[in-house]
Amino acid sequence: MTNGPAPAFIPLSVPELRGREWDYVKDCLDTGWVSSVGAYVDRFERAVAEAVGVAHGVAVMNGTAALHLALRIAGVQAGDEVLVSDLTFIAPANAIRYLDAHPVFVDADPVTWQMDATRVEAFLAGSCRREGERLVNRETGRRVACLLPVDVAGHPVDLDPLLELARRYGLPLVEDASECLGAHYKDVPAGSRADMACLSFNGNKVITTGGGGMLLTNREDWARRAKYLSTTAKDDAVEFVHGEVGYNYRMTNVLAALGCAQLEHLGPYVARKRAIAARYREGLAGIPGLLPMEEPPWARSIFWMYTVLVDPAAYGLDSRGLLAELGARNIQARPLWQPMHLSPAHAGCQTLGGAVAERLNRQGLSIPCSVGLTDADQDRVIQTLAGLARS
Ligand SMILES: Cc1ncc(COP(=O)(O)O)c(C=O)c1O
Repeated sequence: MTNGPAPAFIPLSVPELRGREWDYVKDCLDTGWVSSVGAYVDRFERAVAEAVGVAHGVAVMNGTAALHLALRIAGVQAGDEVLVSDLTFIAPANAIRYLDAHPVFVDADPVTWQMDATRVEAFLAGSCRREGERLVNRETGRRVACLLPVDVAGHPVDLDPLLELARRYGLPLVEDASECLGAHYKDVPAGSRADMACLSFNGNKVITTGGGGMLLTNREDWARRAKYLSTTAKDDAVEFVHGEVGYNYRMTNVLAALGCAQLEHLGPYVARKRAIAARYREGLAGIPGLLPMEEPPWARSIFWMYTVLVDPAAYGLDSRGLLAELGARNIQARPLWQPMHLSPAHAGCQTLGGAVAERLNRQGLSIPCSVGLTDADQDRVIQTLAGLARS
C-alpha cells in the first residue's frame, strides 16, 4: 500500500433510503399514528403479501419474532425437534430454542449452499419411527415437529424435495425467507409455497424498516393467530383480558411507513443486486481461487450477500487473510456465519453432516453489494481483489 489519504470506505451492505420514506414517516408524525396500529401497518402487510403472492402478512418487530410465532403456530412444543439449516444466521435456531424445542442441524448442499434435502430424507427415513400420529427421532425419543429451511444469502432453497418430504411425513414447513424477498423459485416468489414464510426488514436486507419482520401464510386462521399472539393475545381491549401468554411483537406504524416506501422500490433494488452480481461474475472471472456463488437453473436469486469462496492455494491468501487486507484498504467484507453446530449457543444439538457448512464458513467471504454501490466502487473492489491475488 502507498501512503496518502485513506481511500473512501466501501460498506458491505447498507440501506438505500431515497424514496418516499420522509413523506410517509412525516405523515405518521403529523397525524399522531406512530404506534403499533395504523394505516401503514395494514398497507405494508397487504403490499408485502401481494409482492410474495400469499394471502396474508402479519407485520412484527423483527424477523426473529416472525420465526418464533411461526414455529409456535406450526405446533412446535417444548421437547420437540425442528430440522433447520446448519449454515445460517443464528435467528432460526434461537427461535426454536425460545420454545424449549431442539434444533437438529442439517448440513448445506455443496453446490447450492442451502439445506441438503438428501440428508433430511436419510434422517426421516432411517433415523425416525412412527408412533401413532407422531414421528419420533429414534436416538433422542423426541417428536420431530417441523422443517425450517433457510434461504441462504438471497438464494432460494430447493423447496420441492423438502415440501415432498414434509407432506410425506406430515410435517409443517416454515421457510425462513428473511434474506430472499424478491427472489424466485421455479418462477414463483420465494416464500410463496411454504406453509408459512418469515421475512426480516433488518437494516442490511434488500428493503428495510430499520428493524422489522413479517409472517406470511395463505391460511387465514394462522394469520389471525399470528396477529393475536403478537398483540399479547388480547381478547378484550377494554377490560384487558388476555386468553393466553402472548407477545408484544407488533410493528409500529412509523416503521411500516418506512417499509411502504421501501417496497415501492423492491423491483429496481432486486434488479440492481442482480446487476452487481453479474458485474462481479465477469470482473472476478480471471482471478484464480475466487469462486463466485452459483445460481442454480431453478433459482432467480437476489444475491443479497454477494459471496465468493476463497481457495487459499490458488489465490495466495485465505478468506480471513483477504478479509484483513480488504479492511486495511477500507473495503468491508464479512465471512459467512459460524455453522450452528459449532455455535456455543447451540452446543450439543444433533447435526446431520456439517463438513460442507464448515468449509463454506472457512472459505466464504461476502463483499460489498449495497443497492447503492457505484460502478466505480465496485471496480475498486474488483481491482483490489485482483491485485491481492498470487501473481
Ligand atoms: C436467515 C435469517 N433469519 C432471520 C433473521 C432475523 O431477522 P431479524 O434480525 O429481523 O430478527 C435474519 C437476519 O437478520 C436472517 O438473515
